[in-house]
Amino acid sequence: MTATVTQPKYDVKDISLAPQGKQRIEWAGREMPVLRQIQERFAQTKPLAGIRLIACCHVTTETAHLAIALKNAGADAILIASNPLSTQDDVAASLVVDYGIPVYALKGEDNDTYHRHVNIALDHKPNIIIDDGSDVTATLVQERQDQLPDIIGTTEETTTGIVRLQAMLNDGVLSFPAMNVNDADTKHFFDNRYGTGQSTLDGIIRATNVLLAGKTIVVAGYGWCGKGVAMRGRGLGGNIIVTEIDPTKAIEAVMDGFRVMPMDEAASQGDVFVTVTGNKHVIRPEHFEAMKDGAMVCNSGHFDIEIDLKSLGEMAEEVKDVRNFTQQYKLKNGKSVIVLGEGRLVNLAAAEGHPSAVMDMSFANQALACEYLVTNKGKLEPGLYSIPVEVDKEIARLKLHAMGIKIDTLTDAQVEYVNSWTAGT
Ligand SMILES: NC(=O)c1ccc[n+]([C@@H]2O[C@H](COP(=O)([O-])OP(=O)(O)OC[C@H]3O[C@@H](n4cnc5c(N)ncnc54)[C@H](O)[C@@H]3O)[C@@H](O)[C@H]2O)c1
Repeated sequence: MTATVTQPKYDVKDISLAPQGKQRIEWAGREMPVLRQIQERFAQTKPLAGIRLIACCHVTTETAHLAIALKNAGADAILIASNPLSTQDDVAASLVVDYGIPVYALKGEDNDTYHRHVNIALDHKPNIIIDDGSDVTATLVQERQDQLPDIIGTTEETTTGIVRLQAMLNDGVLSFPAMNVNDADTKHFFDNRYGTGQSTLDGIIRATNVLLAGKTIVVAGYGWCGKGVAMRGRGLGGNIIVTEIDPTKAIEAVMDGFRVMPMDEAASQGDVFVTVTGNKHVIRPEHFEAMKDGAMVCNSGHFDIEIDLKSLGEMAEEVKDVRNFTQQYKLKNGKSVIVLGEGRLVNLAAAEGHPSAVMDMSFANQALACEYLVTNKGKLEPGLYSIPVEVDKEIARLKLHAMGIKIDTLTDAQVEYVNSWTAGT
């Protein structure tokens, strides 16, 4: 498959890293049986033949398998990074060299480079955009209206991107269908919760090698990601404090056995802080001021705005790198605050992102959402669309099958019972 590829245009850090990237891509594939089946079917049926496509994703070993599925499907696909710090440079190199996929992504790229890559991708004149955080979609809508007629639709990976798409819809500027991949059960139940839960702690540990047992871990936001971080933090022996703004989520956290309080109170108690709210300035100057000496702060929400790092910089008399992806801010009050991954997604900045086994389902949704858009081209009004329930259930069935787990099926009597209203007390 990889012997005769034509090398496309690219902007990656070091093309000679390709062999290492290929090895890691193949390793990830072992845990991605659902996407593999889709790759194989797409290679036969070519559902995206003739489609120009942008995939704006974290460039990881798992995304490589999505890109391969898209290429197998016949798409003319280009891959760019959805975050300046999340690219795995060896994977980017291998996709170019071994799989012939154009990639524009470098770990540590500055904001100008990030936006230049978004524009290179849009110059590709896409029919479909796979987005993660809606940066490409927002740029298209704001700056490239002349390209809107080419668009069949977009698919969105993450909660923050869905919030932005909903805001575009409310403002009347969403003129095409957008598939809400994030809200598929086989996405957020597993990716946001178990994926973010495990990989966020992995990022904290790889960056610092800190012992979490006995530490107080403050988790800001008790949505799907926050639940995962809190659950896994407790599993490692952390004492968890949750902060929330939603009263129902706060009750859920209390009944799950966690302490809940405002950040104003939690600030002086935490040893490690993790923000996963999708909101801005969840940790602010008054919180930094109150923190213990050596408190660690990091973010696993989509954008690097959850921790007010600009203000922290102004409060600091010295900032220095103390380890990879770990900076110490020495404050004028004599205490230090440690920031991991520059406030960007710590699981992707300091670790490798979600484990392949969960991305298997997330990217199966992405691949099938693209196929759905093409199959239904011209039939869908502008708006946000759920992944069809039958697609979601099929992904779950394939995953269970690959895990070797069987489940019950309804008997005829049960089918009749659940469909009737006459049988009662
Ligand atoms: N790190 C990753 O790999 C990864 C994976 C999936 C999602 N995400 C991102 O993580 C973020 C959270 O995603 P989610 O699926 O958990 O969303 P969610 O909507 O399920 O949960 C967010 C929670 O944060 C709470 N919140 C909002 N503002 C707050 C504040 N000021 N203080 C405390 N709590 C607040 C909300 O009430 C909500 O319960 C999003 O930005 C999403 O895009 C990251």
